[in-house]
Amino acid sequence: MRRRAAEVLLGNWTGASTVPSPALYPHQWSWDSAFIAIGLRHLSPERAQRELETLLAAQWDDGRVPHIVFNPAVPLGAYFPSPDFWRSSTAGRAAGAPAATETSGIVQPPVHALAAWLVHRSDPDLSRRRGFLERAWPALVAWHDYLRRCRDFGGDGLAAVLHPWEPGMDNSPCWDEPLDRVEPAPAGSFRRADLGHGDRADRPTDLDYGRYVALAAHYRDHGYRDAGTEHAFVVEDPGFNALLALSENALAAIAGELGRDAAPHRSRARRLTAALVERLWDEEAGLFLCRDVRTGTLVRDRSVTGLLPLALPSLPGPVAQALVRTMTGPHFGLGTACGLVPSCDLRGRAFDASRYWRGPAWFNVNWLLERGLRQHGETGLADALEQAVLASAGGSGFAEYVDPHTGQARGATGFSWTAAVVLDLLA
Ligand code: DGY
Repeated sequence: MRRRAAEVLLGNWTGASTVPSPALYPHQWSWDSAFIAIGLRHLSPERAQRELETLLAAQWDDGRVPHIVFNPAVPLGAYFPSPDFWRSSTAGRAAGAPAATETSGIVQPPVHALAAWLVHRSDPDLSRRRGFLERAWPALVAWHDYLRRCRDFGGDGLAAVLHPWEPGMDNSPCWDEPLDRVEPAPAGSFRRADLGHGDRADRPTDLDYGRYVALAAHYRDHGYRDAGTEHAFVVEDPGFNALLALSENALAAIAGELGRDAAPHRSRARRLTAALVERLWDEEAGLFLCRDVRTGTLVRDRSVTGLLPLALPSLPGPVAQALVRTMTGPHFGLGTACGLVPSCDLRGRAFDASRYWRGPAWFNVNWLLERGLRQHGETGLADALEQAVLASAGGSGFAEYVDPHTGQARGATGFSWTAAVVLDLLA
């Protein structure tokens, strides 16, 4: 299993970073790279450092870490939206975009400080010799500052996302309501490249894509400015903010290693956790919900994003216990079927066992939940989830995601973060 996972990860390495999947995602993706680095550190700590360094080198002046860093060697038509769509470094370049690298202008969940800390710990001597953390530090701090300074649209200390791709769970049912306000780009105005590499039934619909394109084009046409732009989609996502809090804790650990002040980072992690509980916890649903900032209301759909705060060590005990009950109950069915937690409510109105983030189980989120269970003392459940991740990943050819009932592969196979979390669990 370890050898097969290593083959996937090393096969997807391009020389400076790792593609999530050679045909479907032929560039570098932000949160993919963080999970990839967490696995790659068990094969080559130096490559894992370079994975993160390549990503952070594409950071914008305002601190945002773009969700895609484009590989100039890949033909334009291989992926849509391609660099000419984002226009980050071509004619009419957005202010503050990196001059030498083509990137997208949106972001993905901030898992990077956590990844940097775990990569450091895999070989501290090498890390110190290369000055890895010292060099990554300013970029990681600026990234979190960007989210705090520019994305607190709700004014409550939580970071908001402006596009369904930003929380990483592109077509979650939680976005259906806020997306309803978005006029889709006309069907003939763009050509999806993903359908050439994936089954249509496993991918987002054309209507969703039309809305993704319209939102990204609007942001681009407003110079990727956060303030002073009318954003149709503004959502506080519990998973995104839980990962930010986890990464603030990691920054505190990095600060300790570098002899810097860890206190501000610890207190930011505490404040984020408190804001999550205050703003997004829903006692009746038994999990965290997304907030549509435009209407001020909580979105009632249950998604795995609402379970991710379990990964936070300082989550209040009763909240953690309620999350475990929800996870093992009828809506998420942990311990039944293939043993993995699905991406959304098994009984929800929109559940679809095949379609991307509307039901299938994903390996990176199950890795986070396994850590959360372990840290809140649920050793038996964590062990079982770990075994289920290994069995489903190996049995599905390291699938991008699987049908949560059968464990059958969906999306691409030979998927990098699936291999990465396997390597991490086997270490
Ligand atoms: C895609 O292209 O499907 C990605 O998930 C967006 O980053």
